[in-house]
Amino acid sequence: MEMERDFHMAIGEAEENYANNSRLQRKALLKTKPVLDKAVRQVCTVLLPPTMVVADLGCSVGANTLLFVSDVISTIADIQCHNELGCHPMELQFFLNDLPGNDFNQIIKDMDKKMTNLNGGNIYIAKSTPPSVVKMYQDQFQKDMSLFLKLRYQELVPGGQMLLTFLGRKKEDVLDGDLSHLCALLAEALQSLVTEGLVEKGQLESFNLPLYGPSIGEVKAVVASIGLFGIDHIELFESNWDPYDDLEDDGLHSSPQRGVNVAKSIRAVFEPLLASHLGEYILDELFQRYAQNVERHLVEVITKYSVIVLLLNRRG
Ligand SMILES: C[S@@+](CC[C@H](N)C(=O)[O-])C[C@H]1O[C@@H](n2cnc3c(N)ncnc32)[C@H](O)[C@@H]1O
Repeated sequence: MEMERDFHMAIGEAEENYANNSRLQRKALLKTKPVLDKAVRQVCTVLLPPTMVVADLGCSVGANTLLFVSDVISTIADIQCHNELGCHPMELQFFLNDLPGNDFNQIIKDMDKKMTNLNGGNIYIAKSTPPSVVKMYQDQFQKDMSLFLKLRYQELVPGGQMLLTFLGRKKEDVLDGDLSHLCALLAEALQSLVTEGLVEKGQLESFNLPLYGPSIGEVKAVVASIGLFGIDHIELFESNWDPYDDLEDDGLHSSPQRGVNVAKSIRAVFEPLLASHLGEYILDELFQRYAQNVERHLVEVITKYSVIVLLLNRRG
């Protein structure tokens, strides 16, 4: 017998596997929850770590390790929600440790199904997004944009120029961005599928779009903070949601085709992401509903994309 290889909990789909027979251990976890809660609070408030590292030693497979992970996250979310840490942002890292024979792939599969809900069923920044999640989006933008600019700095010669065109936000209010309106209508379509049992609630709750529409002020602030580029030109122009609508007026128009056109252009961008998260089978239904939601919105509200044009020159 080789202990490291052979000593792991029963894996596989059988009824006798560990995941289906670990209620005893679950009861121990539930009993320990107040102490875990206390430990997490103490670490958060005393150490104020920029990154909190958490390890589950002997995590095995099944719902228990996910219960542990979600208990830690919900304690931290509770602390953030009550603003006990001020605006202190925190990144979380989990190490799931066990012997090599443990089925780590199964944990990852289960995790995808059971991710905890931080963004209230939204898929991007929306009116009901908690401030802590808005901050995560903003920090991520700051981090990604800074890294992008630093890497381009290495590639350009002094005096070299770089022209960027990307989606942004007209108003400074982060909750009132054009992308927020667009994504809220997609979230609404997803929520209706959840209500009808066609998509699992957990699938929606674990889906957040990896993008951010910055304001001109936010873009200028990142460029200034790294100090490697001068801004030669920055402007924001607007473009109709419907890519086939070239009218430049601000009138409200009605035609179901506009919803369909918008839905098609958004599907072309997000289909691979949505298909891997929800499964391909649901996409036709999802985008039909989305097209209807968009059309309803366009009849009521004048909404446009905001596109930022940024010309940078590399400092010497
Ligand atoms: C009874 S299970 C508990 C699993 C899980 N924490 C729970 O609450 O359901 C104990 C786990 O510890 C793991 N284990 C035992 N010795 C270990 C070692 N030396 N290093 C890492 N994991 C170990 C086993 O493989 C097993 O998955």
